[in-house]
Amino acid sequence: MKTLTLITGSNRGLGFSLLEWAQSQGHSVLSFSRRSLGERFRQQISDSSAPIFQEVLVDFSKPESYSGKLAKTLQALDLNQFERLILFNNAAVIEPVSPIGELSPELVATAIQVNLTAPIHLCQEFVKSTKSFQGKVWIINISSGAAYRPIPSWSIYCSTKAGLKMFTDSLAMEFRNLPHWRFLNFSPGIMDTGMQAQIREIPETQFPLVGQFKDYYSQAKLSMPEKVVAKLSRYIEKIDSGKTLTSELKIDLDVSDLA
Ligand SMILES: NC(=O)c1ccc[n+]([C@@H]2O[C@H](COP(=O)([O-])OP(=O)(O)OC[C@H]3O[C@@H](n4cnc5c(N)ncnc54)[C@H](OP(=O)(O)O)[C@@H]3O)[C@@H](O)[C@H]2O)c1
Repeated sequence: MKTLTLITGSNRGLGFSLLEWAQSQGHSVLSFSRRSLGERFRQQISDSSAPIFQEVLVDFSKPESYSGKLAKTLQALDLNQFERLILFNNAAVIEPVSPIGELSPELVATAIQVNLTAPIHLCQEFVKSTKSFQGKVWIINISSGAAYRPIPSWSIYCSTKAGLKMFTDSLAMEFRNLPHWRFLNFSPGIMDTGMQAQIREIPETQFPLVGQFKDYYSQAKLSMPEKVVAKLSRYIEKIDSGKTLTSELKIDLDVSDLA
């Protein structure tokens, strides 16, 4: 299926695995990241069959850096050449990880901006830009177990992820009569990425559960992001072939539910 895939935070971690997957499927790709992907990936792209590949450099902590860029990029393309459009809101930050009373106001503002405000604005630009598009339109917002259960010292991460989940669910309600739209909250589970490495470095005085996260790592309980993407990809193909959840607009998906 001719697909245009938009991915935020695509330069590393889960976002990079999503990018490699999209490229391997022959999708056209719009990559939104703060840092460029580098020569190795650009070479990979030019050797591949990806019809369109465009990097858009943005800092999601600064509205003036990303505002309007998704809409402008889509306006420059003829969307009618595609049968499906997918937006992955993936970029996020874990910080600040601190008990209340010790939260940095700057880090709180950045986390709300990157994890919640930016995805809201990107969804809005995406919806406005694709109003007359006749094919399938999917929004897949990367969620977390932290959206569903509280974790000490993660009050900001948990709140922003819970906020994004509710935002996604609300959009699904708004679009309930438009069957070609899909809204997914996808929780990838604990993965071996920079975010987990960052968590393991936090002192116990700041994050009392840090020992658990060190154990997950030493006991090899972290998934590789490419394996997570492979599972999500199989699920996506099932939606497309009508084998699963075709009547559901809103899908809360946890990687542990996937084969
Ligand atoms: N890792 C886990 O165990 C886990 C578990 C559950 C959910 N998740 C979720 O999965 C998603 C991917 O996480 P990950 O583990 O791949 O994290 P990661 O390795 O820390 O990567 C985060 C991505 O977000 C980007 N980003 C952060 N701040 C940005 C900003 N201001 N502007 C633009 N891009 C920014 C980063 O870009 P830079 O390189 O420029 O910083 C990077 O590409 C996130 O939504 C996360 O909440 C992760």
